Amino acid sequence: MLIAGNWKMNTDLPGGLALARALAAGVQEAGEEAFADVDLAVCPPYVHLSGIADVLADVPVAVGAQNVHAEEEGAYTGEISAAMLTSAGCTHVIVGHSERREAFGETDADVRAKIVQARSHGLVPILCVGETIEQRRAGNAAAVVRRQLDGALDGVDVDTADDLIVAYEPIWAIGTGETATPEQAQEMHALIRRDLTDRFGDPAADVEILYGGSMKRHNAAGLLRQPDVTGGLVGGASLTADHFLDIARHAAAQVPA
Ligand code: PGA
Repeated sequence: MLIAGNWKMNTDLPGGLALARALAAGVQEAGEEAFADVDLAVCPPYVHLSGIADVLADVPVAVGAQNVHAEEEGAYTGEISAAMLTSAGCTHVIVGHSERREAFGETDADVRAKIVQARSHGLVPILCVGETIEQRRAGNAAAVVRRQLDGALDGVDVDTADDLIVAYEPIWAIGTGETATPEQAQEMHALIRRDLTDRFGDPAADVEILYGGSMKRHNAAGLLRQPDVTGGLVGGASLTADHFLDIARHAAAQVPA
């Protein structure tokens, strides 16, 4: 189980540090046992990363970025490299979020190049896939997700379950308050699991497949109870420490004792 927060373009630096401190305090108050079986991560804006990595240094909350450039270094004004991210304390990076695909024109080939680059620096990519409402209504959701997986993972090696995380994020559920039903999520997560197994064999059984799209503390339990939903990528609700940690508690409750 993994609960990861995607802060998107929210919080200024003092606000982001305060949120990270609230998370650290919440994790410490809950005690070591509370989240022993759940991995936690936050993906704040770039400029917050190193400060937040310091704040979270003594608590089991990993730090990830929301994007990375595919090239090693050089004349790419405004971009951030994988080496910069690791040196700022990141262990994870979101790639292919639908907002980047839609608003910034990222293609499957771009996403694949970012995954390769992230992996070469030891960053764990959180690959986002998901369909639009029109694609779902037309009965094409599964085909769209399969195509995204193909485009992003063709030629990528996954040797252990820790090499990759996938997040299924139906676009119609992101930031809308409308969530996929647990059954809709499970159906797509099972498809993703099968696809990963065909590609990578045994390690695919333990790759985390997160659900994202209006996951909140009131609906997280039902989603996380599904066998192939092994965590969440949480946007809006990750901006409040209590809400985020409540979702993590629901995740912890799903792990067999
Ligand atoms: P949301 O965002 O939880 O606010 O819907 C999820 C995401 O886009 O990762």
